[in-house]
Amino acid sequence: MTAKPQGLAVRPGVIHYPGLLDPPAQRAMVDELRGAAAVAPFFTPRMPRTGAPLSVRMTNCGALGWVADEAGYRYVPSHPETGLPWPPIPGRVLALWETLADCPAPPEACLVNFYSSAARMGLHQDRDEATFDAPVLSVSLGETAVFRLGGISRRDPTRSFRLASGDVLVFGGEARLAFHGVDRLIPGSSTLLEKGGRLNLTLRRVTPFQRPAST
Ligand code: SIN
Ligand code: MN
Repeated sequence: MTAKPQGLAVRPGVIHYPGLLDPPAQRAMVDELRGAAAVAPFFTPRMPRTGAPLSVRMTNCGALGWVADEAGYRYVPSHPETGLPWPPIPGRVLALWETLADCPAPPEACLVNFYSSAARMGLHQDRDEATFDAPVLSVSLGETAVFRLGGISRRDPTRSFRLASGDVLVFGGEARLAFHGVDRLIPGSSTLLEKGGRLNLTLRRVTPFQRPAST
């Protein structure tokens, strides 16, 4: 994929690419992620203040990975349990960033969340990065999620829409700090993952970068 595909503008700064990855491409990406998870196993993140477990399990690829535990939300260069560096971001995932992110710098982090059928994610902003100049690019694989998107204030109205397997969502610009979350999964909506559930990848730039001077 080289030419930028046409997406649906959900609201300024948010573009949804439904079904951008066809089933063979989804399977190939899952295989790549399986390889990564063999090096960096899924772990259970915990809420900073209470230590309560989140309902998703997660791992990362890339130079930096996002972790959450009693020490806070942060990016670290190695897996919290194995101490090993995170594996590289798989090639197919990087290719999506190159085509869709409109960013001259590569992503540094690829957070991989696994949702079992009962998992969800509360409304939050992605704001642990030292730059918001790059968008967040999210890939959905497996069961459909009911995704909730708000504005940049928690009080702003929200709307929900579905993210199905193979969908890509990019949010940047004025929507980079938009509140978002996952209300629930739709059980049985995909057979991609043998035991059901959903994988979500979020690609992010963590440290500042320079855009080439415009001519
Ligand atoms: C996230 O915000 O980290 C995940 C969003 C999603 O699962 O679609
Ligand atoms: Mn998020």
